[in-house]
Amino acid sequence: MSVILDGKKLREKLLTELKLKVDSFNKKPTLVVILVGEDPASKIYVNNKKKTAEKLGINSQIINYPYDVTEKELLEKIEELNNNSNVTAILVQLPLPKHISKENIINAISPKKDVDGFTPYNFGKLFSGEEPIVYPCTPKGILLLLKEYNIDIEGKHVVIVGRSNIVGHPLAQMLLNKNATVTVCHSYTKNLADITKTADVVISAVGKNIIEGEMLKSGCVVVDVGIFKDASGKTRGDVDFESASKIASYISPVPGGVGPMTITSLMLNTVELFEKNLV
Ligand code: GUN
Repeated sequence: MSVILDGKKLREKLLTELKLKVDSFNKKPTLVVILVGEDPASKIYVNNKKKTAEKLGINSQIINYPYDVTEKELLEKIEELNNNSNVTAILVQLPLPKHISKENIINAISPKKDVDGFTPYNFGKLFSGEEPIVYPCTPKGILLLLKEYNIDIEGKHVVIVGRSNIVGHPLAQMLLNKNATVTVCHSYTKNLADITKTADVVISAVGKNIIEGEMLKSGCVVVDVGIFKDASGKTRGDVDFESASKIASYISPVPGGVGPMTITSLMLNTVELFEKNLV
């Protein structure tokens, strides 16, 4: 049976430390989250972000636009937030409606307030092997979780399943920068199991049930980033926990693994932007 990579426990530890730091600030950081539409999952994520920020003493505001908001209106709001010296961090919750260009919106955020690390400036820094102002939240959270359990990735073969700009793509670069050997698999990959079987670490970020125990090498580390409801309404991840936990040495559960680490990283990034005070 594998050791559980407990994201909830690490969240408590890191946020307790972070609260002490925020308590010591005279002025507090401010995180602004833009949410477009009424997607139930996005609403839950955004409310969790606000609740967590408030517990830490970080000011937070959700700006909720209707689904049919124009790109121009969003761009104007981002410009206003960029110019507001009281705003530390801006997050636009993804996905956005199809009539809005995600690229145009992300490009409009000042890199100095880009708490996701998604702007071309921060992505460019990351992909050229330099330090971005902050690192993308989910990959950062995964690396913090591996570090907490003393899982060294230098020289290890890490197989990432999924190549999104939110997780797989920046994570691959962050692991390369730490001297892992990285393979990125995606929907066009042939014979996925042949590749995952060679992995010391498997990280899946697809959003559907794709990884079974028989696809894994004995003793490997499994990180499950996926989270969705199955047909019966049960919350689950990309990995079949029952079969995988018999093969892996470490495994992250869903819920309670990567999810809490993403929020933790968002709070860490908000405070980092505040301390860098680049506004
Ligand atoms: N939607 C799902 N994950 C994320 C994230 O990390 N940042 C943003 N902005 N939107 C998301």
